[in-house]
Amino acid sequence: MSTFKNFAIAGVGNIGAVIAEELLSLKASGKVKEVVLLTRSSTKNESIDKLVSQGARVAAVDYSSQNALESVLTGIDVVISTVSINALDFQASLAQAARLQALLGFDLANGKASYGADGNALITFTSRHDIARFLAHIVTTLPAEKLYWSTFRIEGDRISFNEILRQYQEKTDKKVDVTLRSTEELEAALKVNAYDIFSALHLAWARGEGIVGKPEEVSNGMWPEWNPKKVIELITP
Ligand SMILES: NC(=O)c1ccc[n+]([C@@H]2O[C@H](COP(=O)([O-])OP(=O)(O)OC[C@H]3O[C@@H](n4cnc5c(N)ncnc54)[C@H](OP(=O)(O)O)[C@@H]3O)[C@@H](O)[C@H]2O)c1
Repeated sequence: MSTFKNFAIAGVGNIGAVIAEELLSLKASGKVKEVVLLTRSSTKNESIDKLVSQGARVAAVDYSSQNALESVLTGIDVVISTVSINALDFQASLAQAARLQALLGFDLANGKASYGADGNALITFTSRHDIARFLAHIVTTLPAEKLYWSTFRIEGDRISFNEILRQYQEKTDKKVDVTLRSTEELEAALKVNAYDIFSALHLAWARGEGIVGKPEEVSNGMWPEWNPKKVIELITP
């Protein structure tokens, strides 16, 4: 069974309204928790009013505003785009905003986080920009024989989720409520749905499988000036 319960439908017209109705019919069984209808309009719309009477929530959106989209999609698991055929260009920003919501179970904008076990396992984090910098550096500075068949283990930070949140709360003075999922709970979720990537990642991290290697195996020292960013710098720019 899917773990997705919160849905947003962008552009509730001919097909979107029917999809919304179907999802709303699953609310009573608990399979669906929330159906949010994204619309550009604030004027009265009978079709949307009918869906609201069936339990939908309406959210006015400006598809050209990335910030507005990210904000409106907070807490949404799945975005279904049924915008009209002449508005398909907006789907890229919609997809980008949707991708950011489910990010690792961290919803700092709303003071919530969810992760596995006790949250103390160390995990390697490296920003894409720092990975790119390191790669560009070594392939342009190391002799070929040092590159052939070599493995480079790099990390911007090696830190636990608990420590990330401790630093975040100290720096921002914002409280974050944490939901811990036991390893048994994560394993059970994967038995139900082997493609539940979110639970798979959190289980691996909780088991200590999220580090690039032993500290002595890390290659950061090959370029001491690299200075990759720490997680706290990345989440509180
Ligand atoms: N109709 C079908 O039977 C059917 C079947 C299969 C696939 N499709 C596909 O499903 C998609 C939706 O089709 P549809 O017939 O349901 O579309 P539609 O009724 O013409 O439009 C859907 C919604 O898109 C929003 N929209 C319209 N113009 C927009 C614009 N310029 N920018 C942003 N949003 C805009 C509107 O919502 P707001 O005004 O509330 O923002 C509108 O209610 C299309 O890609 C179509 O090819 C349709």
